[in-house]
Amino acid sequence: MPDRYAVFGNPIAHSRSPAIHAAFAAATGEDLCYEARLAAVDGFAAAIAEFIAAGGCGANVTVPFKEEAFRLSQRLSERAARAGAVNTLTFSKGEIAGDNTDGAGLVRDLVDNLAFPLAGRRILLLGAGGAARGVVVPLLAEGPASLDIANRSADKARQLAAACADLGCVQGGSFGELAGKSFDLVINATSASLVGDTLPLPAGLFAAKALAYDMMYGQGATPFLQWAKTAGAARQADGLGMLVEQAAEAFLLWRGRRPATAPVLRQLRAELGVSRQPTA
Ligand code: ATR
Repeated sequence: MPDRYAVFGNPIAHSRSPAIHAAFAAATGEDLCYEARLAAVDGFAAAIAEFIAAGGCGANVTVPFKEEAFRLSQRLSERAARAGAVNTLTFSKGEIAGDNTDGAGLVRDLVDNLAFPLAGRRILLLGAGGAARGVVVPLLAEGPASLDIANRSADKARQLAAACADLGCVQGGSFGELAGKSFDLVINATSASLVGDTLPLPAGLFAAKALAYDMMYGQGATPFLQWAKTAGAARQADGLGMLVEQAAEAFLLWRGRRPATAPVLRQLRAELGVSRQPTA
């Protein structure tokens, strides 16, 4: 019997994680199976308990269960504790361990895949919800010159910045407070585009050679990346690389080996029919 893993979410039918982990398993020769499981909105804990009872070894967790997975974890990694959210669970010796690989996935995509080192850079993170919280600590660990967090609800951005103030030069505020500032990297961690909104951002945000990064991905450029191009971002990248890299980080936690990500990312891009756009 292969070791069993699954991703839990609601909805989950669109998830690419089973295909990604199947590709990792095939490439590394690891004997495992990985499936997508729909959990009822009020049934996450029960679904996890049932999976553990059936011999599950670990799970990924996606929207809307990352905070609940955090609460369910009996042991937390430092990065998950700081994020207040868990996307990777490991079940071992009767214990549920929680980690968060989203930030590491983002950093690896930026630094390795996009050759965009973060040390000394001025970074702007848009959003202060779960997606943003998951990446603040790993971003600060790279030693940027500064990290600004801006959010529609400015207080949430201020709180998030204050919670990580011991880790680097980080501040939070409103979109309007960004006027007059410019950045080397602007990351969209809001879900504004899902409701068809654009963010009310001031002009001049992008420094020379700046990269715009959207944690979202889809067919063609996302609304944020379309806007960024017209607003002067020299480079644009979507979040497909982050998706594959956070999966690789979870695979490493579970299996003790890091799978190659480039072939899987190429395959997913081909399926989506989009190419990363390194220059304008
Ligand atoms: P996720 O897990 O995707 O981060 P979330 O925790 O609900 O989901 O957070 C959504 C983020 O997108 C928040 O930063 C939210 O801003 P608020 O904190 O002000 O709600 C942001 N967001 C969602 N819709 C938005 C919109 N129409 N305009 C601007 N920001 C939006």
